[in-house]
Amino acid sequence: MSDAATRPFGGLEAAFQAALAQATTAQALEAVRIKFLGRKSEVAAALKGLGALPADQRAEVGKRANQLKTAFEARLAEQQAALATAPARAALDVTLPGTALAQGRLHPVTRTMDAILACFVPLGFEIIEGPEAEYEYYNFDRLNIPRDHPSREHFDTFFLEAPSPQPAKGRLLLRSHTSPVQIRVMERRKPPLRILVPGKVFRPDALDPSHSFMFHQVEGLVVDDRTSFADLKGVLEQFLRALFGEDTQARFRPHFFPFTEPSAEVDIACRVCRGTGCSTCGQKGWLEIMGCGMVHPNVLKGVGYDWQRVQGFAFGMGVERIAMLRHGVKDIRLFFENDVRFLEQF
Ligand code: PHE
Repeated sequence: MSDAATRPFGGLEAAFQAALAQATTAQALEAVRIKFLGRKSEVAAALKGLGALPADQRAEVGKRANQLKTAFEARLAEQQAALATAPARAALDVTLPGTALAQGRLHPVTRTMDAILACFVPLGFEIIEGPEAEYEYYNFDRLNIPRDHPSREHFDTFFLEAPSPQPAKGRLLLRSHTSPVQIRVMERRKPPLRILVPGKVFRPDALDPSHSFMFHQVEGLVVDDRTSFADLKGVLEQFLRALFGEDTQARFRPHFFPFTEPSAEVDIACRVCRGTGCSTCGQKGWLEIMGCGMVHPNVLKGVGYDWQRVQGFAFGMGVERIAMLRHGVKDIRLFFENDVRFLEQF
């Protein structure tokens, strides 16, 4: 084939191949056919113009144009067949069920925390948070737990290695309860106070079904010039009925806390056996739910309050323990394993 004969179709085959490779729909395929074989295509124009060519080129060009035409038609047909049998991957079947998206939800401890806080908000409590890394001063000293006093042993503590930014306030530690926030608030505010303190607390306990080195507490503090143990009982009984149901029975059992006097632990009648004794309550018929008491005069004095004029009460409860009772969870560790099969149930 002479140069003159092939020149009109230079690069045409390659262009066709490239266009064909891009054509993945019937529509695109038709566009390729029109471009390369249609009335205005190069091949069609060459065939039409054969008569005008010098006689010596006519045969060559005509032959070449016809070859291309046949080859293009064959390849287009092939591609069309392949498209027709290929699975309709781009097609959208609107009758198919959609892909379910995993939906997040609140952690059971968060939900219980919210439920607890919601019970107190109508009583006019204000929600306040404090730091998890705390000074000995707030966690112990100001709560009437002096250094070298045996009562400090009841609160095993994680001490931090970081040097204390305020040495006068003692070492830094991970707070072992939310009670230090009582002091922080009383130091900067005057009574009346009605606060609720949710937060994480830390104790170096070995893990077992009822112990975790981190758990959550909700602390409450009321300070006023006429606050009695009767107010404390009334508020907590109302809270327990709101959280666990109107028929909930509670009892206040004398106890000791260094920062309250008198102090009590609050039990509710076992939810499983209703007080007759079972394995959930260890045959006691009662479940311990929180600690409470009247704010100790030493605590009031320590923050500069006139302890002869104002009184207060405080309480503290473990959120995981309450979540376990509400949902019948037997092992506290389940809350922290992040197993979605467990978490999805709430
Ligand atoms: N801080 C106590 C504890 O962690 C609970 C408590 C709070 C008791 C307030 C009395 C008053 O055990």
